[in-house]
Amino acid sequence: MPEVSAVVLVGGFGTRLRPVTYAVPKQLIPLAGQPTLFHAMDMLPSAVSRISLACGYKADAFEAYLQRHPYRLPVRVVREATPLGTGGGLKNGADGATDPFVLVNGDVICGLDMDPMLEFHREHGGMGTMSFFEVEDPSPYGVAVWDDDRRITKFVEKPPKESAPSRWINAGASIWSTSVLDHIPGGREVSLEREVLPKLLDRGVYGFAFRGWWEDAGTPARLLHAQRLLFDHPRTGRFAPKSHLPGARVVPPVASGRDSEAQGATVGRYVTLGDRVRIGPGATVEDSILMDGAEVGQGATVRRCVLGPGYHVAPRSDLADQCLANEGPSA
Ligand code: GTP
Repeated sequence: MPEVSAVVLVGGFGTRLRPVTYAVPKQLIPLAGQPTLFHAMDMLPSAVSRISLACGYKADAFEAYLQRHPYRLPVRVVREATPLGTGGGLKNGADGATDPFVLVNGDVICGLDMDPMLEFHREHGGMGTMSFFEVEDPSPYGVAVWDDDRRITKFVEKPPKESAPSRWINAGASIWSTSVLDHIPGGREVSLEREVLPKLLDRGVYGFAFRGWWEDAGTPARLLHAQRLLFDHPRTGRFAPKSHLPGARVVPPVASGRDSEAQGATVGRYVTLGDRVRIGPGATVEDSILMDGAEVGQGATVRRCVLGPGYHVAPRSDLADQCLANEGPSA
């Protein structure tokens, strides 16, 4: 099997997950025990042997995390001085890419099997193959229509729900010939979906449809839904969440990091605790993500929340449906 490289886009600001993304880039938020980024990389085809991380916002955080927690494949951090968008980020990060190469958004959480997708790409021989997932309301996403041979004939970004030409949305994982890079203008911000893709359809871009589960972990509610999906569909042979919380009432599935404590508390279901999280006696944490060093006071309740690093919840308070962090815009 020839070597394949991958580019993973992680340069966005993650505005919909503020204020947590003032502290941590979206793709480093832990879901079901490991960062979103690692779940996205676990999805790559088995032929992939090296990864370029196309970074912009908080590139240092990715570099530091990967140094402390090396991924099983070599990952090269490629930086952007100014945001280059999805197309510009791809062009910047694809130096030395194999032909074909794989492209994924670092926040894609889904059950797609990319091994058959790579085979499909080789069989169809087009410039690219994009993955698509069917949803009820496609209006926040890019939507495609294809012919009997699966060749995409139309791609519309964020169509109104009533006039969307299909309900198959761009799932954020694709495979490209390196010739795609010749169609992306250099040195400026470029949207792959809006500016480049419509011009590529004549050259043969194919749609690989899959069913099962998918989520865009872009908002707090979607992030927590993505976590539930990941707990419910562990990717065999890649990663298994662990929890070690002596003296706690643990309702699985729960993942906890190093040195976290929850003596006398109830934790679960669907909870990730980072490292050094402290949950006081009589507290309850459910369907939530608590990042490194977060604390929940005695008798407090935390449900459907995303709490940034070091965030403190006061004793006996009742938090639900919140995304909170100590950091603000200037941090
Ligand atoms: P929001 O600000 O909440 O919309 O999130 P986002 O900034 O992550 O944007 P979006 O979800 O639309 O981005 C899709 C993917 O492209 C994500 O993996 C982003 O990190 C990535 N991305 C967006 N803009 C850039 C960019 O300028 N450079 C790079 N390298 N990646 C980007």
